[in-house]
Amino acid sequence: MDIAKIFQNNQDWVKRKLDIEPAYFSDLSKGQTPDILYIGCSDSRVSAEELMGVAPGDVFVLRNIANMVPNTDLSVMSVINYAVEHLKVNHIVVCGHYYCGGVQAAMKSGDLGILNPWLRNIRDVYRTHKDELNAIENEEQRYKRLVELNVEEQCINVIKTAEVQKAQRDRDLTVHGWVFDVNSGNLIDLNIDFKKLLENIMEIYRLDLKEPENKAVKA
Ligand code: CO
Repeated sequence: MDIAKIFQNNQDWVKRKLDIEPAYFSDLSKGQTPDILYIGCSDSRVSAEELMGVAPGDVFVLRNIANMVPNTDLSVMSVINYAVEHLKVNHIVVCGHYYCGGVQAAMKSGDLGILNPWLRNIRDVYRTHKDELNAIENEEQRYKRLVELNVEEQCINVIKTAEVQKAQRDRDLTVHGWVFDVNSGNLIDLNIDFKKLLENIMEIYRLDLKEPENKAVKA
């Protein structure tokens, strides 16, 4: 990769944008009001904005290995907090992808050093859905299903957070589970039925958040 070319590309892009809209960058500098938080994989083939066809300013993005939402990860927890409480996004997307190296690594034994605790979160997803996964004989199909189940579990992790539970009480904040198929370019909505999925478990995770002060006083 020619690094100098990147700066040339940047200057070409600036020129193209300014040719169409002279105030493009000065408008961008005024602030951001994205409506979507996208949590995806760091994989270089899964370029969030390009595959969604969105422009700068449209989507708040976090990418990490295998699009994980571990509850002790300060980065993802801060991103969710900022997106929900300050940017007031109305959609949170967890987007996995088929052929994910992180998910594949978690399906095999192997000491991967600092990656061990990270990938263990995916091994936990495997354990949770072991019966369904082990019943799939075709290894590629099993791998793809684990990608989908991992998205589902990370969406549930999003819903477990206090910020999301609070926001869902006050406004229409929707969580979406998607998968990008690197082999076809298609973006697939898993159409996860969270109501059904959370039916029997939400009582465990509901944080019973206090009513706002003023309401409590009135009561
Ligand atoms: Co990946």
